Amino acid sequence: MPARRTSIHGEWSSRLAFILAATGSAVGLGNIWRFPYVTGESGGGAFVILYLVCVAAIGLPVMMAEIMLGRRGRQSPINTMRTLAREEGRSPAWQYVGWLGMAAGFLILSFYSVIAGWTLAYALRSVSGVFNGATAEGVAAIFEEFISDPERLLAWHTIFMVMTTIVVSRGVKSGLEQAVRYLMPALFVLLVVMVGYAMNTGQFEQAVNYLFTPDFSKITSGVVLNAMGQAFFSLSLGMGAIMIYGSYLSHTASIPRTAAIIALMDTLVAILAGLAIFPLVFEYGLAPSAGPGLIFQTLPIAFGQMPGGALVGFLFFVLLVFAAWTSAISLVEPVVAWLVENRGMQRVKAAALTGLMAWLCGILALLSLNLWSGDARFTFFGKGFLDLFDWVTSNVMLPLGGLLISVFAAWIMTRESSRGELGLANGMGYTLWRVLVRYVTPVAIGLILLNKTGILTP
Ligand code: PHE
Repeated sequence: MPARRTSIHGEWSSRLAFILAATGSAVGLGNIWRFPYVTGESGGGAFVILYLVCVAAIGLPVMMAEIMLGRRGRQSPINTMRTLAREEGRSPAWQYVGWLGMAAGFLILSFYSVIAGWTLAYALRSVSGVFNGATAEGVAAIFEEFISDPERLLAWHTIFMVMTTIVVSRGVKSGLEQAVRYLMPALFVLLVVMVGYAMNTGQFEQAVNYLFTPDFSKITSGVVLNAMGQAFFSLSLGMGAIMIYGSYLSHTASIPRTAAIIALMDTLVAILAGLAIFPLVFEYGLAPSAGPGLIFQTLPIAFGQMPGGALVGFLFFVLLVFAAWTSAISLVEPVVAWLVENRGMQRVKAAALTGLMAWLCGILALLSLNLWSGDARFTFFGKGFLDLFDWVTSNVMLPLGGLLISVFAAWIMTRESSRGELGLANGMGYTLWRVLVRYVTPVAIGLILLNKTGILTP
């Protein structure tokens, strides 16, 4: 076995620090903004079940593989893949997995920042009392008016991107650990409060039925793909975010246990978000399939009605901004690490450059909501840039990255290499993981992708 590498970018101070950072990456807009709206678009219960299956059978094993590769390579995903491939006597072309991930991260960051910008704006609006006593129609009108103003969206998008760039330029460790340690639990508590509120005032039973009673007639190839895509997006998998965080993880930490904790917490937050939002959706006769605006059109109604709602709303959106912030950081980090390693750039410059490029790309996403909305020149497969970036990253690029990572971890790396790095004995646990990444995940991802593209129809 080669001598253990160390990362030039540093190491987490403890296993807990890694768990906090990786959970910070996983828990974000994907859980609270994306999960409810994709569930709504995909018809509810059957999607949720498929999603949970994807998290357990695909997400968790891929997460273990990603952490393992990162910790062994100790560099940006591109360089990690190249180094590990060479070590196993294989082609350096494996580095393209890193390139694919970098491209995906970049695209995700561009629209992620736009949505995080909405969240910032909504924090301010809540506290200013705009939603006090507002009806469902009123809240919807406020949202429509907001997203139709490109300048305002641009301002918030810019603020969020600057915030992200600043943290990354200072190194992921300082600041990040503290933010996750206190703010994530706070978000969790507030989410529970919201579920409590929804339980008392909304159509809770209907929501529970909607979320957990599967109607299998609703399953189409698109719904299966959405479930898998959501699992990748929500767990931050397939693009190297978890890989790069793994590269700062100490050799003594247990990867399987750590990965399980992260996946569990991420899933819990998504389910809570669903339980907070859908009772309100049904109470106010809104459409579950309203799309990306769903939480911005439902939660403010509740904030407008509950006592102290202005403050609760403010806190909720501020905490959501923090959750988005700790996720955005992990989208930038693989690119920055690569620029530092291969271009000898200073971290600050690398972060600024990455932020700037993603900011520019984000402008396409935000214009697709207003000036370019419905304009055939800027619509592809019926989607504007924001929807397109969102769909193509989650449903194609991340799963493809995950597939390649699985193949690499299980077919290219030798047993000795993977077992040693995972720190597992040659028992049941290791065998189960290996069977999953060797056969189950690549085949499942491959079939789901092919099925959706129509190359393979059942
Ligand atoms: N997992 C994050 C979220 O749920 C988004 C993300 C995707 C972050 C991919 C990093 C990589 O909000």
